[in-house]
Amino acid sequence: MDKNRPYIFITRKLPENTIAPLKEFAKVVVWEKEDEPVPSDHLIAEAKKADALLTMVSDRIDKEVLKSAKNLKVISNMAVGYDNIDVSEATNRGILICNTPDVLTETTADLTFALLMATARRLPEAVDYVKEGHWDQWGPMLLAGADVHHKTIGIVGMGRIGTAVAKRATGFDMNILYFNRSRNREAETKVGAKYASFDNLLQQADFIVCLAPLTSDTKHLFTYDSFKKMMPTARFINASRGGLVDEQALISALEEGQIAGAGLDVFESEPIDNNHPLLSFPNVVALPHIGSASVETREAMAKLASQNIAEALKGKRPKALVNHEVYEEE
Ligand code: DGY
Repeated sequence: MDKNRPYIFITRKLPENTIAPLKEFAKVVVWEKEDEPVPSDHLIAEAKKADALLTMVSDRIDKEVLKSAKNLKVISNMAVGYDNIDVSEATNRGILICNTPDVLTETTADLTFALLMATARRLPEAVDYVKEGHWDQWGPMLLAGADVHHKTIGIVGMGRIGTAVAKRATGFDMNILYFNRSRNREAETKVGAKYASFDNLLQQADFIVCLAPLTSDTKHLFTYDSFKKMMPTARFINASRGGLVDEQALISALEEGQIAGAGLDVFESEPIDNNHPLLSFPNVVALPHIGSASVETREAMAKLASQNIAEALKGKRPKALVNHEVYEEE
């Protein structure tokens, strides 16, 4: 092994063309098991050797991994969210953290809106109904769901993806409310979104769509009280992170009919198995965290994640740097 070549560990198999540029200047080692995340002891052993890690949302990069990573200069997470990484510990250790914003915005907004529609119009139930051979006659109220057009959508987290979902909502003549840490004047002007307090949004929206990032401030933002404030006809959609929701509270709200249904692409602890209590509700549409999962977008994310590493290891400021303070200190 050439000792001068940096060592890069990639925690999942990615399309060859997306990582080829890294191989030109570095030794690149990839965890080869396609459907299995790297076990934590293996990740720690690799982190010990690595100059760079290319990680996934499913990898937990905690203090234990970081303390062993003496040579580590950069972690590039193939996701816009980076709540799987202990950013403050990495920052203290001078490790750059990068993510993959922008390239997944439209794709994630497509999936969020598809999930909203599937939940409103009961698409998974309808698909099962046909496939399981129950469709023996047409019925006037058979699998009748809720309208989406002209309803009120309440977006919690009006960042890039939130704004892209709002744009889709304008095509359905929806009334758009949003709640965000700070006002998003651009969304207000471009898509006519109206700022609302969290409680007002919960009370008024037919579709409450969670797109806020998971941080210590937003953990369990949606409590039993939040679901109680929603209309009994409201549907809750989560395409951000499961940790924003107190899942037990959501289960109680569904059991008690406090809300009409939920569309969930994310869960508190992933993956879930098929005994998960949320799966027992016919009015819950559950997806396996596929918000950004189109072939085009996953390739674009992998390319950007690689590019972040190449830039960092070549001493340039990575395009999608999260912890700017490390760079400033260098
Ligand atoms: C993200 O980018 O944070 C997504 O959740 C991963 O698909």
